[in-house]
Amino acid sequence: MSITSLFLANWKMNKLLGESKEFAEQFVKDFSPHPSGIADVGIAPPLTALSLLNEALGSVQGISLGAQNVHWLESGAHTGEVSAAMLKELGASFALCGHSERRQFYGETSQNVARRAKAAIENGLQAVVCIGETREDFEAGLTADVVHQMLESSTSSLTAEHLSSLVIAYEPVWAIGTGLAATPEIAAKVHDQIRQELTSEFGAEANSVPILYGGSIKPENIAELIAQENINGGLIGGASLSAESFSQIIKIGRA
Ligand code: PGA
Repeated sequence: MSITSLFLANWKMNKLLGESKEFAEQFVKDFSPHPSGIADVGIAPPLTALSLLNEALGSVQGISLGAQNVHWLESGAHTGEVSAAMLKELGASFALCGHSERRQFYGETSQNVARRAKAAIENGLQAVVCIGETREDFEAGLTADVVHQMLESSTSSLTAEHLSSLVIAYEPVWAIGTGLAATPEIAAKVHDQIRQELTSEFGAEANSVPILYGGSIKPENIAELIAQENINGGLIGGASLSAESFSQIIKIGRA
């Protein structure tokens, strides 16, 4: 089954409103939607810029907007948290769940990632569940075990009915923001494992779940990564902050 590749920008804690506006103006000039009409491009800005980007890009066919996190409850005494319904009001159609920076620096657990993903999907968002091993795990040869555990526990709340709104992002922590992307061979091996585990857990329908690679994607390496059978797009941090390099990645990746 062929999956249209997705290119998602993760701006992390970057860009004030003026910078976001400038990006949008530049990005849209050069943007053309995927020929199939599918929204294969997404941007997850900081929450503060979501509304502005929705005004600037929300009506552009082929571009979707997302959030970098989402809470699993609808409302309540959860200072600092934001629910799926609130994100939808701002124009989000997807949410990252369990990005490694949340796991590493803010105590995010796979159990909560699973809750976030389920709530996101059940409230009409696409959930982008992020998993990936640390440098120590990688060097100790533990990648397959860690990925297995993270995938299983981070999707433990989901059933086959949730799959049409699920995206998995494999992001080795050692490749994020380091300039050192995984080689296509290393990434392909893990993506094949993820595909195989998803189909054995959820059945053949899991063949249509996009599995994105993330970690130092640039215009120079996207082609070789995306050429791998089970690499169905990218989650792009640093290189998505410039409209020019994000556009180039999309252009090269779509080709
Ligand atoms: P990077 O970040 O492209 O800057 O390595 C990717 C990510 O953390 O999603």
